[in-house]
Amino acid sequence: MLTATVTLDPAFVVGPVRPRTFGTFVEHLGRCVYTGIYEPEHATADEDGFRTDVLDLTRELEVTTVRYPGGNFVSGYRWEDGVGPREARPVRLDLAWHSSEPNWVGVDEFVRWCRKAGVEPMMAVNLGTRGVQEALDLLEYCNVTGGTYLSDLRRANGAEEPHGIRMWCLGNEMDGPWQIGHKTAEEYARLATETARAMRMIDPTIELVACGSSSSEMTTFGAWEHTVLSEAYEQVDYVSAHVYYNGADGDLASFLASAVNMDRFIASVAATADAVRAAGKHEKRIHISFDEWNVWYIDRMRSEVPTGEDWPVAPILCEDTYTVADAVVVGNCLISLLRHADRVHAASLAQLVNVIAPIMTEPGGRSWRQTTFHPFALTAHHARGEVLRLAISSPLLPTAKYGDVPALDAVATHDAATGEVAIFVVNRSPDEELLLDSDLRAFPGLRVIEAVTLHSPDHTWAATADDATSVVPQANTSALLADGRLGAALPPISWSMIRLKPTETIPVVPNRGGRAL
Ligand code: AHR
Repeated sequence: MLTATVTLDPAFVVGPVRPRTFGTFVEHLGRCVYTGIYEPEHATADEDGFRTDVLDLTRELEVTTVRYPGGNFVSGYRWEDGVGPREARPVRLDLAWHSSEPNWVGVDEFVRWCRKAGVEPMMAVNLGTRGVQEALDLLEYCNVTGGTYLSDLRRANGAEEPHGIRMWCLGNEMDGPWQIGHKTAEEYARLATETARAMRMIDPTIELVACGSSSSEMTTFGAWEHTVLSEAYEQVDYVSAHVYYNGADGDLASFLASAVNMDRFIASVAATADAVRAAGKHEKRIHISFDEWNVWYIDRMRSEVPTGEDWPVAPILCEDTYTVADAVVVGNCLISLLRHADRVHAASLAQLVNVIAPIMTEPGGRSWRQTTFHPFALTAHHARGEVLRLAISSPLLPTAKYGDVPALDAVATHDAATGEVAIFVVNRSPDEELLLDSDLRAFPGLRVIEAVTLHSPDHTWAATADDATSVVPQANTSALLADGRLGAALPPISWSMIRLKPTETIPVVPNRGGRAL
């Protein structure tokens, strides 16, 4: 069996585990909102019409933040349509997804849902068809306590307390020609800068995300970030990054190595931001909000985006079914995001329910966990304390897209309060088992408290409503620690988590709310 060695040391710290790494995304797209989070007729619906089965799964997923309301949708959205009495709300054309938007859910309902789910709302403003004034209006409606027209309107609509939304995205994918109100880098840079400057006049505590490129494949990637940040540097806190991977071309080895691309993407965006910082003699650093990432079989929309006279409400769109291999890639992307905890301060798995999502629902029926649910939930639950920089020596895996890449990839976290060490590791080889040999001598007195592996001899297995549990993470009984060395057999195409704790621990109850943002 091939061996990969991984050395851990508590002194080699990347940065704190950022809770916002475990964000997701709810867009008015397909069935994400309607029959996803909201379905008043559903048997589990609560008094606000939210599906409590989905709320339960969202809590189990340990989602921390949810970006809303888009995505491409936001670039044609009028937020005012979604507030006030439901019977008076207009039905609008959603040009992004050729659908009808009934506005049964708007900002007040979304924030109420967030409170129930225990997640932080992250709001996007429309910089496609709208501009500074409408962004200011939405911010006033959400964050001003009262005594002004829009804050009092919120109160009249039933939200006495301000929504207190801290993170705001300045538009969505404005470099994309598909985007309603698509802009050149110069046009967007001016608009984003002035919107940000004015928004901070209302609420200086907000954190602002400038749109980066909609993918690193865009011809303008790099130049776009440079132009936007050169203008907006002092006004924003983050630049966004978006990426979707899939293995539709049949090149499994490259697909399994997708996180190599994510690593390079993050490094490129950070380098561009730092180049602007140096040239502009700025003090602060711009961080990355990786606010759309996932596996997405974009050519298999499941149903076509409607056309012509057909403008349905909540059509079936982008309802991808995820395999075990897809879950390994998702788990590996989380490893990459954590590894870059010094630069990636927020991220959103796109999306949460039904639309390229870890949670699926039937209208009026069941809900279930996709394969991708498991690595996300376990990482979100157990990554605590500080992210460690690992020394990894792995056999190489030849790939057509990325050259020779390490077959094993891993990250670890160390919670100084509890002494717990969690190792998240993938074997990206399509056919070779790997032996993990981990040097833990810098952590004396540990014992393995949990070792689980997500794997199936059939890596194409996918969960359905009828069978969502045949393949879930199983105990990995090969994980053994002796003389400071941890050994574990990692099957091909697998994601694993190994948790260790000192034999004598001071019982400290982990406090999620107490972690640094
Ligand atoms: O997440 C689906 C879509 O992907 C979003 O609407 C858009 O921002 C991206 O292109």
